[in-house]
Amino acid sequence: MGERVVVTGGAGFIGSHLADALVSRGDEVHVVDNLATGRREQVPEDATFHELDVSDVDALGELADRIGPVARWYHLAAQADVRVSVEDPAFDAKVNVIGTISVLAAARRHGALVAFASTGGAIYGEVVEPADESTPMHPPSPYGAAKLAGEVFLAQDSRLNGGAHTVMRYANVYGPRQDPHGEAGVVAIFAGRVLDGRPARIFGDGEQTRDYVYVGDVVAATIAAADAAASGADADLRSGGATVPVYNVGTGRMTSVLELWDAMERAYGSTNGREFEPRREGEILNSVLDASFARERLGVTFDTPLEDGLLATIEWLGGTVRA
Ligand SMILES: NC(=O)c1ccc[n+]([C@@H]2O[C@H](COP(=O)([O-])OP(=O)(O)OC[C@H]3O[C@@H](n4cnc5c(N)ncnc54)[C@H](O)[C@@H]3O)[C@@H](O)[C@H]2O)c1
Repeated sequence: MGERVVVTGGAGFIGSHLADALVSRGDEVHVVDNLATGRREQVPEDATFHELDVSDVDALGELADRIGPVARWYHLAAQADVRVSVEDPAFDAKVNVIGTISVLAAARRHGALVAFASTGGAIYGEVVEPADESTPMHPPSPYGAAKLAGEVFLAQDSRLNGGAHTVMRYANVYGPRQDPHGEAGVVAIFAGRVLDGRPARIFGDGEQTRDYVYVGDVVAATIAAADAAASGADADLRSGGATVPVYNVGTGRMTSVLELWDAMERAYGSTNGREFEPRREGEILNSVLDASFARERLGVTFDTPLEDGLLATIEWLGGTVRA
């Protein structure tokens, strides 16, 4: 039998895929989103949509009362554009810190757990080898700092109020419905260029690397982490309520911008070439996550081949595969 669940940010890229998956498994899904970047048409038909700003503590609390007992809040609503966070850190903190505090308060009304979409790359910062969950954290942007603060508030709420919350630190998530402004925005930009028959525009030498993880794999891991929290299978990770489980979600593979473009051209069967521009100030060179812990504990994989995922993304953008 399904559960009543809330997905904040469920009109967005990852949240809408998650809402689809939860509807498919029989849950009663409520989507909360203010459509800042999300799209109403991405919310599954069988979900109930509530247009609301998650940082409005009172309004979210009233909504929680109206919906009635909820088992889980999947909290994905966020200001997820790193550049916006640099330009306006206070706005970023309003959405990403106050918004998370507000979700925790709403969830507490019915003793629900919160599964929080945090970030890997924007929390660990520059790395030379795959970062695991114990790697020191050096958020290079206000966005990363705000996500880290959100994690700390989850742990604190868990200690004070006993919520069985859980945290996923996503790598660079890509796939259908993504837009160019997220952490793996380059995939959407490249997909558009492949479709238009234009060369890639590469900033710097193209050797900078990221960990591109397919959205379907991310959704499966997110649900598995929430299942472990709900069943108590992760109880040993909570050390007396002082901490919450944290799982990296990524492939562990470093893919350079040049490799990404090559994979995309192979997937689509095009040869548009590439153009180079000066390196962008402040850009992280390497970001990659070791997600062995999630694989072992949650029994999930992050194995969707890059070319398959890229092809699905290009096709979603409107392409037809060339022979
Ligand atoms: N895409 C990635 O590579 C990536 C990587 C790491 C972490 N994440 C995290 O995953 C989550 C989903 O990211 P995404 O890529 O799907 O981004 P997205 O922008 O597509 O989704 C975010 C959603 O939140 C909604 N939203 C924004 N502000 C809101 C507010 N104040 N109240 C209610 N809704 C609000 C937006 O309208 C949007 O639908 C975010 O928390 C993001 O920080 C994403």
